[in-house]
Amino acid sequence: MQLTVLSGAGISAESGVPTFRDVETGLWAKVDPYEISSAEGWRDHPEKVWAWYLWRHYLMQNVEPNNGHRAVAAWQDYAEVHVVTQNVDDLHERAGSRRVYHVHGSLFQFRCDRCEGEYRGELPAMPEPVEAVSPPECECGGLVRPNVVWFGEALPDDAWQKSVDAVTHADLVVVVGTSSIVYPAAGLPELALAQGIPVIEVNPERTPLSDAATVSMRETAAGALPGLLQRLPSLLG
Ligand code: APR
Repeated sequence: MQLTVLSGAGISAESGVPTFRDVETGLWAKVDPYEISSAEGWRDHPEKVWAWYLWRHYLMQNVEPNNGHRAVAAWQDYAEVHVVTQNVDDLHERAGSRRVYHVHGSLFQFRCDRCEGEYRGELPAMPEPVEAVSPPECECGGLVRPNVVWFGEALPDDAWQKSVDAVTHADLVVVVGTSSIVYPAAGLPELALAQGIPVIEVNPERTPLSDAATVSMRETAAGALPGLLQRLPSLLG
């Protein structure tokens, strides 16, 4: 059985990582996720965009995978599991998932915004959130940026192709912790549904996918995922 998971920021929420559209408290309460994660935002004020991602990079060192990530990893004992994630954190990998496709990139890779060369140098320290930090400079004079996909940028080909294959060859797709509003990732469940592949949504809130999903569960990732496989017969009939 092939099981494909499409995850968003909500699966990491119970690890203490704020989602993109939760109202953030403190420093970034006023930050618009569309603005801070856009090529225009980077062009206009790279030091603010760099500070936001650098803080999230460091935040990840203090958080652990939760029971939602661990359940997805445990499913690998029963099925061929592919994880398509919009998340730039590494919590699926740290929980033990072996096939993880980051369609919006990763907080743990950095590259030059001019020569595109991978950056392996030192990162500035960031003991607490600050609004602006100057990004390191590349030898070519470009600025070092996080290897994440910003609005208006193309998704990584390899991750995207593997994600389309994983969704269209699945026996079941589980969509968890995503607002299902950012395309093209939000279009993946529709590909499965169009082929008659069952789609289960796990989200405490309704989303634009909720009506179309085969089953839509108003539950959290850490609450619903650990027992989900056992519930499939009753859920899918
Ligand atoms: N369990 C499951 N879902 C949860 C939980 C939880 N404990 N807590 C919150 N959620 C849900 C919210 O209801 C919301 O629908 O997770 C979703 C998070 O939505 P977003 O913050 O929009 O995150 P995401 O869907 O991953 O955003 C998609 O948008 O900002 C860009 O590139 C960024 O990858 C991101 C993309």
